[in-house]
Amino acid sequence: MSLRGRAVLARGFHAPEAPLEEFRDAVIEVDDAGVIASVRHPGSDLYSVPSDVLRLPEGTLLLPGFVDLHVHAPQYPQLGTALDEPLEVWLQRYTFPLEARYADLAFAERVYRRLVKDLLASGTTTALYFGTVHLEATQRLAELCLELGQRALVGKVAMDHPENCPDFYRDPSPEAAVAGTRALIDHIRALPGNEGLVQPVVMPRFIPACSDKALELLGALAEETGCRVHTHVSESDWEHGYVLERHGRTDAESLAHFGLLTPHSVLAHGNFLSASDFALLQRRQVGVAHCPLSNAYFAGSVFPLRKALQAGVSVGLGSDISGGPAGTVWENARQAVTAARMLESGVDPSLAPDARGGQGGARVDAVNAFRLATRGGAEALGLPVGAFREGMAFDAMLVDPSVEAGTLRVFDEDVEGARLLERVLYGTSKPNITSVWVNGEAVVG
Ligand code: GUN
Ligand code: FE
Repeated sequence: MSLRGRAVLARGFHAPEAPLEEFRDAVIEVDDAGVIASVRHPGSDLYSVPSDVLRLPEGTLLLPGFVDLHVHAPQYPQLGTALDEPLEVWLQRYTFPLEARYADLAFAERVYRRLVKDLLASGTTTALYFGTVHLEATQRLAELCLELGQRALVGKVAMDHPENCPDFYRDPSPEAAVAGTRALIDHIRALPGNEGLVQPVVMPRFIPACSDKALELLGALAEETGCRVHTHVSESDWEHGYVLERHGRTDAESLAHFGLLTPHSVLAHGNFLSASDFALLQRRQVGVAHCPLSNAYFAGSVFPLRKALQAGVSVGLGSDISGGPAGTVWENARQAVTAARMLESGVDPSLAPDARGGQGGARVDAVNAFRLATRGGAEALGLPVGAFREGMAFDAMLVDPSVEAGTLRVFDEDVEGARLLERVLYGTSKPNITSVWVNGEAVVG
């Protein structure tokens, strides 16, 4: 049911700042535009429960919707395919041929509609989507997000480099890459009924796939249009090394050189970002999409999440469909915890613990992962979502541990705080998510 112009009485969690906040019997008022007008907690001065309040069912938990900072929409049909191949082989042999099929609009419609619905049903209320090189299919992706009610940032992939992109799948020239991107920006901004729910993004695939001319023109376009930029950065040894060799500087420095680090741009992966790269991102207000599942297959290393956060870089989570074999933020939140633990300990059992190569202090916990999945991603994008705060959009999901087909079980009434959130983070699956709202409108349930 739509919550616009209504108040809701809820128990749940959010993490507007670093610590977890748990609330009970909170009254959240949503205005007619779907923005949170007030949040009042029992015991506060102005707390009262309106008679027409919507009481969420006993035992349910209200969470902010998740933000997925890195989704390749066209790759959904190959989730889990050939992840034993190195990135550069996987791209050429599987991914580019699949993406080339989106010249067929009917195929695009079928996949994209299913994907947006599936992500919404898993609680992803905001997604940052790579499309393909095709303008029409990517326009359709943006239209579907608007139609189905998902907050989305969408880009046409720009990839024109004849050496690293196949003949059957690339922009024919730098100018064509930029013209297509510009056309998508104009199209999305003019979509009837779009009041910023869906926003265009400039998306060079990654430096290896782009000519210097294309990078230069895309940087100028981002500056001219005020668009965010989304691309891959320092993902694998091969990719990181390729840019060092071609440009004589790191990926992040090269993106800065071409004007591609505009505020609230997001760089995916970043496993090999240096301390000075992190400082550069922090200065430019550029965030990182941490894709821990994908990184386990393609990056050959673990993203130093703690170091990024300590450097003041905004970090959120990315599923990296289909480099990551799971379609949701949930699995990536869990993997963020697991990967950080392995980074902290090191992984070679033949070595003594102190010689195992671990990074002291690298661990994160479920609360940290929950924050990345919600406000972390929102902060990276500079969007007023991800927590229940006055002025933020009501983007939320309702989790119900009592659902028969679900996997989340809560037996003890007195489990609360971080102990309960852990259970929710590790135990929830799609059937447990009984309602999802974006901008106060019900998009699921
Ligand atoms: N680098 C360039 N393109 C891709 C892609 O599709 N997936 C991943 N994981 N990395 C990339
Ligand atoms: Fe990716």
